[in-house]
Amino acid sequence: MEERRIRHRIMAPFDLQGTWRLLWIEAGPATVEDVLAELAGPGGERLAIRLAQDWPVRRRLPEALLAQGLATRLAPSGPIVTTIRIIDTLFPVARGGTAAIPGPFGAGKTVLQGLLARYSDVDVVVYVACGERAGEVVETIRDFQRMEDPRRGGALLDRTVIVCNTSSMPVAAREASIYTGVTIGEYYRQMGLDVLLIADSTSRWAQALRETSGRLEEIPGEEGYPAYLDSTIRAFYDRSGRIRAADGAVGSLTIIGAVSPAGGDFDEPVTRSTLAAVKTFLGLSAERAYRRAYPAIDPLISWSRSAGALAARAEDPADRARADQAAAIRALLRRGEEVAQTLRVTGEDGIALQDLVLLEKARFVDSVFLQQDAFDPVDVSAPPARQQALLALVMQVVERPLALASRDAVRRLFQELTRLGRNLNYAADGSPERARLASELLAALDAASSPAPASRSTETS
Ligand SMILES: Nc1ncnc2c1ncn2[C@@H]1O[C@H](COP(=O)(O)OP(=O)(O)O)[C@@H](O)[C@H]1O
Ligand SMILES: [Mg+2]
Repeated sequence: MEERRIRHRIMAPFDLQGTWRLLWIEAGPATVEDVLAELAGPGGERLAIRLAQDWPVRRRLPEALLAQGLATRLAPSGPIVTTIRIIDTLFPVARGGTAAIPGPFGAGKTVLQGLLARYSDVDVVVYVACGERAGEVVETIRDFQRMEDPRRGGALLDRTVIVCNTSSMPVAAREASIYTGVTIGEYYRQMGLDVLLIADSTSRWAQALRETSGRLEEIPGEEGYPAYLDSTIRAFYDRSGRIRAADGAVGSLTIIGAVSPAGGDFDEPVTRSTLAAVKTFLGLSAERAYRRAYPAIDPLISWSRSAGALAARAEDPADRARADQAAAIRALLRRGEEVAQTLRVTGEDGIALQDLVLLEKARFVDSVFLQQDAFDPVDVSAPPARQQALLALVMQVVERPLALASRDAVRRLFQELTRLGRNLNYAADGSPERARLASELLAALDAASSPAPASRSTETS
């Protein structure tokens, strides 16, 4: 069945047991309630098939299929492409994997999740607005209606399912909304589609769990959350994954949840349980948001447990090389932070010229590569080719030994490099402007480079 860009499969109930025979099936315009096929069971009983199915949302949808060998779990094969540089390059999310975005109020969780919903290379997005204010939820729906699907055209809403549960709705409904979203995601995955589930925010969901548990007079655990908080959060994220259906169709469900700890303290039960359950941690920092260093993902605290496996499994050697470059960038950012700390204590005179160069390189990587302007039509989304070209350019700056005589010269050079790099990010792909900025950047770098040592040039000749 076609519905705009989605091809719906007419599926048998997911917990059907034994051998059933298809009596008849017809496609064509239909509502979800119309009978489209009929099955005959082992005892001759008949079963009408509709597009709509009933399912208890707390149960994993493919459970019976997996048990009967009618579906197979597959390992993640590659990352989802989000076109957000800091995620794709430094902290990738596996297709069928999980990620959490904890951050204090106002750090950019909702904006980031909107970008992920809009630009990730998936077929269907399920967006669960959980426990947020009604005004914000309405705004989200309007945005999706207004925005174009950048990959295939048409309204973004055509490939998006929104599950709404505002802060004014009953607590039990809020608890169920997360499960409803996951179940809808599993349903589309079963059709062989790539699905992204976005939950904003899982903290509100955990608070609903706490309230329900309190009313049931269960023994509370830490901070009044139920003792089973850990396993409940884990079970939610465990519903992600790649699955091959009986007909060979491979689908995936990737889950990305926002966490909003009070005061931005990551050492609280919901954040801690979530970090133990997910494979990628994108930690937002209030300090970065305050400096408007968006997306405010802090590269010093974030991690991806998927990065190593994805790089090892990558078929393209260039992908593996980029994983090494990502490791080099992470190391540079850490050393840059050490220098920044020394600088804060001793002032600039307390650090060596080479350390200043290192610090400036780290700042350059941050401004030009990690930060990305969500309000610029070009920079908002960096497709793989543009991201890779920029990474190659940035690595030249990172790896180049520089011969600069003074702190002023160092600062002047990096001011210029940063200006050129940022403008480059605003220039359209293939534009003369872009080419000019790239060559100006390299020329500025060449002019400041130390000449190649004589021994090296004789070795290579
Ligand atoms: N990527 C971004 N680029 C520019 N501004 C941003 C970005 N992310 C967040 N902001 C700014 O921060 C504000 C709060 O972001 P929001 O996502 O609503 O925070 P949260 O959901 O974490 O409370 C936004 O209204 C916007 O002004
Ligand atoms: Mg928000």
